[in-house]
Amino acid sequence: MKLRITIDGPAGAGKSTVARELAQALGYGYLDTGAMYRALTLAALRNGVGGDNEAGLKDLLETIDLRLEHGHLRLDGADVADEIRQPAVDRMVSLVAAHPSVRTALVARQRQMASAGGVVMDGRDAGSVVLPEAECKFFLTASLAARAGRRHREMLAQGVRVDIVDVEREMASRDAQDEMRAVGALKVPEGAIVVDTTGLSVAEVVERLLNYCRERGA
Ligand code: DC
Repeated sequence: MKLRITIDGPAGAGKSTVARELAQALGYGYLDTGAMYRALTLAALRNGVGGDNEAGLKDLLETIDLRLEHGHLRLDGADVADEIRQPAVDRMVSLVAAHPSVRTALVARQRQMASAGGVVMDGRDAGSVVLPEAECKFFLTASLAARAGRRHREMLAQGVRVDIVDVEREMASRDAQDEMRAVGALKVPEGAIVVDTTGLSVAEVVERLLNYCRERGA
């Protein structure tokens, strides 16, 4: 059976790596909802639309071409995987993602992209808002230090030189914004399995999730 699987949790909990590997192991598609908020933020930076300009962001969303091709998100036809991880996008994305009309529009697209099933979706509200009826829901978490350490290594690998103290500070402030916003706030979805990934390898986490999904018929 082609299930719908959601993985939510704070930044740096290992969601995207785990989601990608889980999708691969099951032969499912992978949908990174954070990348969609990031791509819109990148478009806003390029077009001079402020993060607090909800109407401008909503208009922008209607003019840009955001699509998923073989698991890769494309913005106006280009692969923007690296650009959407820039610190400028990190700093602005929570503000962009807090606007209710932006969320409504992106959530509708996410549901449509997942409508055929056989998908692993990661985000903040994937199991609570986008696909509350998903067959397997997970919530990954880890200590702030572990999460900041992972994101720091990821950034260094991409050639972005930043201080780990700044990564940790920025991450804590983004968590707070993501948890406190009125719509689509980060929370443990009803019925989700919570996995603390501090000290666990990616392979261990994937194995745990995979076993659970297999038991559910994946
Ligand atoms: O997972 P990430 O770091 O790529 O997410 C980027 C930002 O987008 C993060 O600050 C929270 C926001 N986001 C969201 O509000 N809802 C989602 N479903 C996914 C991400």
